[in-house]
Amino acid sequence: MKKLIKTFIILLTAVFVFSACGQADESDHALSKDKKVLKMGTSADFPPFESRDPEGNFEGFDIELAQMIADELGYELEIQDMSFDGLIGALQSGRVDMVLAGMSATEERRKNVDFSIDYHRSGEMFLSKPDRKLEGIESLEGKTVAVQLGTIQEEGADQLSKEYNFEVKKVDNAGLLLQELLSNRVDAIYMDKQVAVKYIEEHGLFGFDDPTTSSPGMAIAFPKGSDLVDDVNKVLEKLEESGKLQELKDKWELDEVVVE
Ligand code: ARG
Repeated sequence: MKKLIKTFIILLTAVFVFSACGQADESDHALSKDKKVLKMGTSADFPPFESRDPEGNFEGFDIELAQMIADELGYELEIQDMSFDGLIGALQSGRVDMVLAGMSATEERRKNVDFSIDYHRSGEMFLSKPDRKLEGIESLEGKTVAVQLGTIQEEGADQLSKEYNFEVKKVDNAGLLLQELLSNRVDAIYMDKQVAVKYIEEHGLFGFDDPTTSSPGMAIAFPKGSDLVDDVNKVLEKLEESGKLQELKDKWELDEVVVE
C-alpha cells in the first residue's frame, strides 16, 4: 500500500511539472504571437540620427522614429548595430527587416533594396580644423580627405578626388572620421551636412559646403519586395500630417540643410 501511495505521489508531481511546463510554453508563444519582432539595422555612429548614450543605449532621431513606427504597427522593435557598409547586405540576407541609418535613397541602392518615402534631406560638407583651415574644393589639392566606407560620400570623394587631386582615406565608422581629423591624420573629412554642423558646433571645426552635391533624401530601406514598405509609408504620412515628425526633428535639432 505504501508503495502505491509513493507511486501515486510521483505520478502526481510529474503531471504537475509537465502541465506547468506546458503552460509556460503556451504563454511564451502567445506573447510572441501578439507582438511580432521588427528587426532594425543601423550604424550607431551618426548623431543626431543614431548613436549610443554613455550607458550604451541607442538614441537619436532614427531610433525614435523607428520606435514610433513599431508602436504604430504593433511590433516589438529590436535594434542591431553594425557597420554602415554591411547594412544593405543585412537587408538582402534577411538578417534585418528595415534599416534606419541616415541612409540616402540613391538610385544605385534602389537596385538592391526598396525605400520608404523620404523623411529628411541633407547636403554634404567638408570639415577641417580651424588652424589648418581649408575652404573651397580647390584647396583640397594634395590633401587627404577621410570618408566613411559604403556611404555616398565615399563614392562622391572617389569622383571628386580625380578632378581635384586629393587622397581619399576610408574608415568604417563615422566616429573615427572625427578622430582622424582631430589628431591631424587627415586634412579634411567629407560627410552629411546635418551631422557636420553638429561637429562644427561641438569641436569648433571649420566647414564648407560641397557645391557639387545633389544627394537624394534619407529614407528607410527594406529588402526588395517587402510588404512593410506600404505600411511604413502610411505611418510616415500620418506622422507628417499630425506634426509628430516635425516635433521629433525639432527635438533632435534637424533642419533641412540641403545645398541649393
Ligand atoms: N547619408 C549617407 C549615405 O547614405 C551617410 C549615412 C551614414 N550613416 C551612418 N549611420 N553612419 O551614404
